[in-house]
Amino acid sequence: MAIIKQPQHKFSIGIFDSGVGGLTVVKAIRKKLPKEDLIYLGDTARTPYGSKAGETVVRFTRQCIRYLMQHKIKALVVACNTASAYTLPMLRRNFKIPIIGVIQPGAHAAVASCIQGPIGVIGTKATVKSNAYTESIQRLNHKCRVVSQSCPLLVPLVEEGWLDGPIPKNIIKTYLSPMLRKEIRSLILGCTHYPALKPVLQKVCGKRVRIIDSAEEVAKALEIILDAKGLRNMRETSGKQKYLVTDIPEQFIRVGSTILGRPISNVQRIAVLEE
Ligand code: DGL
Repeated sequence: MAIIKQPQHKFSIGIFDSGVGGLTVVKAIRKKLPKEDLIYLGDTARTPYGSKAGETVVRFTRQCIRYLMQHKIKALVVACNTASAYTLPMLRRNFKIPIIGVIQPGAHAAVASCIQGPIGVIGTKATVKSNAYTESIQRLNHKCRVVSQSCPLLVPLVEEGWLDGPIPKNIIKTYLSPMLRKEIRSLILGCTHYPALKPVLQKVCGKRVRIIDSAEEVAKALEIILDAKGLRNMRETSGKQKYLVTDIPEQFIRVGSTILGRPISNVQRIAVLEE
């Protein structure tokens, strides 16, 4: 019996995050590339990654990406700044498909605005400790000044779906006050969970600060790479989405539906193999 091979452009795009935050990137990808099938893995059992050691982030990410690679995937988006900061070179060495992280696209978008004042970067403790944003920005323009701040309470707020009101506002104010005193003119949301808090962040920062959410830049970078490699799905119909989580899915469905602005279905709980 002849085996009919599916052409690679019909494969899915794999998207990975430690939890629900990467859905901010899914939203942008769906808008830009509506015909693509997406398969998302959120490691909800082990989130947050951002307060863990670099080696732990590498180990967890590798296990999740191995799992995703068992599906038919033509490109991978690491929709997690923490994982992008620690694992991109290793992933690119080990897997032969195009791999896009979230740090480079965000840094690119910010550099254009750095003439007017310093660039603020907020992220998890691990992302800030890695210095990945400062290095990426200064590689593009060594004159840019960068002020970073880790905001470890913001990921749990988003995972809980606590996206507005006085508590998120006061926490954000406390974190951002030192960089606002330094008169930053743009703020990179260096964690894919943070766009869910964008209205409160913008309120605290005021209109003078441009908020940079790398999700749209990532979607643009993905479009360019799919076109360059002839991997774009050209069918007439919309793509499908499948969501995999490593713990009970209820909270992921509730918060994820708010982030995507539409109900989430097709969520499956999986067990990622430990090495
Ligand atoms: N959303 C992830 C990021 O972009 C990670 C959050 C976490 O697990 O701490 O860094």
